[in-house]
Amino acid sequence: MALERTFSIIKPDATRRNLTGAIVKKFEDAGLRVVASKRIHLSKAQAGEFYKVHAERPFYDELCEFMASAPIVAQVLEGENAIAKNREVMGATNPADAAAGTIRAEFAESVGENSVHGSDAPETAEVEIAYFFSGLELVG
Ligand code: TYD
Repeated sequence: MALERTFSIIKPDATRRNLTGAIVKKFEDAGLRVVASKRIHLSKAQAGEFYKVHAERPFYDELCEFMASAPIVAQVLEGENAIAKNREVMGATNPADAAAGTIRAEFAESVGENSVHGSDAPETAEVEIAYFFSGLELVG
């Protein structure tokens, strides 16, 4: 299979607890390569734009507040089957359901503060990568 790229966020609960390196190690150990990376502090409006697909959900406002509460690390990960592989390494949305050894099982604090985001499909990966990075910043 050809190399695929996916978009990842290390969320505020994880940057706050200094877990960036531990989480990147999980990606790298799974065969994913970091081809772009930046640490930024989103405004609530920017977080809202990123998560607009959830705008009607009851947790939307809290989610946007949380995503703007501390810096995040936005990254592009590359590898074979990167989208599925990344979601496997992340584990289920709710850490209570996440398989042992996954990022969310080891690090997430709750369903809302769950340490990582990963794109769920090629189309969303493309849109999410373009929201955070220019082509010049992707260095494979
Ligand atoms: P979702 O796209 O369902 O999960 P995933 O991040 O695994 O792709 O939800 C996006 C984020 O919304 C999720 O990571 C955390 C937040 N969220 C809540 O705060 N409460 C909830 O009940 C759900 C389903 C999600």
